[in-house]
Amino acid sequence: MKTRITELLGIEYPIIQGGMQHLGVPELAAAVSNAGGLGTINVTVFPELDEFRAALEKMKSLTDKPFCVNISLLPETSAGEKTFDYIKICGDLGVKVIETAGRKPDTLVGPIHELGIFHIHKVPTVKHALSAEKTGVDAVTIVGFECAGHPGKDEVTTLVLAAKAVKQLKIPVLAGGGVADGHGVAALLALGVEGVVMGTRFVATKECQIHQNFKDWCVSATEKDTTLVQKSINNMARVANNDTAKECLKLESKGVTLQELISTISGKRGKMAMDKGDLNGGIFVVGQALGLIDDVLSVDELFTRIVSEMNESKNRLNDIY
Ligand SMILES: Cc1cc2nc3c(=O)[nH]c(=O)nc-3n(C[C@H](O)[C@H](O)[C@H](O)COP(=O)(O)O)c2cc1C
Repeated sequence: MKTRITELLGIEYPIIQGGMQHLGVPELAAAVSNAGGLGTINVTVFPELDEFRAALEKMKSLTDKPFCVNISLLPETSAGEKTFDYIKICGDLGVKVIETAGRKPDTLVGPIHELGIFHIHKVPTVKHALSAEKTGVDAVTIVGFECAGHPGKDEVTTLVLAAKAVKQLKIPVLAGGGVADGHGVAALLALGVEGVVMGTRFVATKECQIHQNFKDWCVSATEKDTTLVQKSINNMARVANNDTAKECLKLESKGVTLQELISTISGKRGKMAMDKGDLNGGIFVVGQALGLIDDVLSVDELFTRIVSEMNESKNRLNDIY
């Protein structure tokens, strides 16, 4: 398959595994890259620089294909000034792609480009996409209201955002939010995007390092099993509608501060729940694509199926007109 993104990144399929807090580790990311997509590991998973360096070395032992490093710029997960050290390590170890998200990436564009690394920035609105383009990033990912994580406050869906971004931007546009199969990938490519980002679908893969209870839940859950938390602290996130999310919404309805919410929404609590298989024990970031997940597959099996579905979609359109 050939798009501007497959050509620029040297990957076989225009399919990117989005950055995933707690789960963006070498085992999953390498499987995605080896299957022909672009796997992503997350800086937030490796709070110490040595751990991060070791993770990159592990990645390189598991795949010789390009992969991406997700760097969060959100206030609660950003590494602050240490971000520049992470970028330097990416340069030392030959990382090809960095994805930033969470805040305007203007101060990072120069350091990333100096190391010859391709810079993708993820945004939730066309306005942010245009602003990112001005900073000089190489590509943007635009995510719609369906997505796991942080959709835009304007609540606009992927279909509309992707079509609009493609019309307004000159740099390559990737899109995500609500895609879990090859029909969705084909639909977004038909709109003109150069690549498709998926997060939720990769949770239900054999390589994902989350307790089996969560994978099974992803299979049984529907598109109606997510909710939006943290609106009151201006950091809206789509997550599983579990007991912790309900607890969070209850606190928010009382007008609590970020400090008062922290113990409920903390990443540490979420990670402990993920490891224990406690579905209600913490915040679990997940999107409406849940409604499209019927099984737990290996990443390789998933890619084989996605490519086959993309071909079905192509044939269907050929039959129609
Ligand atoms: C469990 C999980 C954790 C995520 N953590 C992050 C993160 O730390 N940083 C980030 O930029 N995006 C994160 N995302 C969002 C994904 O990178 C991607 O944008 C999103 O999942 C796309 O929407 P989809 O879930 O409908 O495929 C996460 C997604 C999931 C499912």
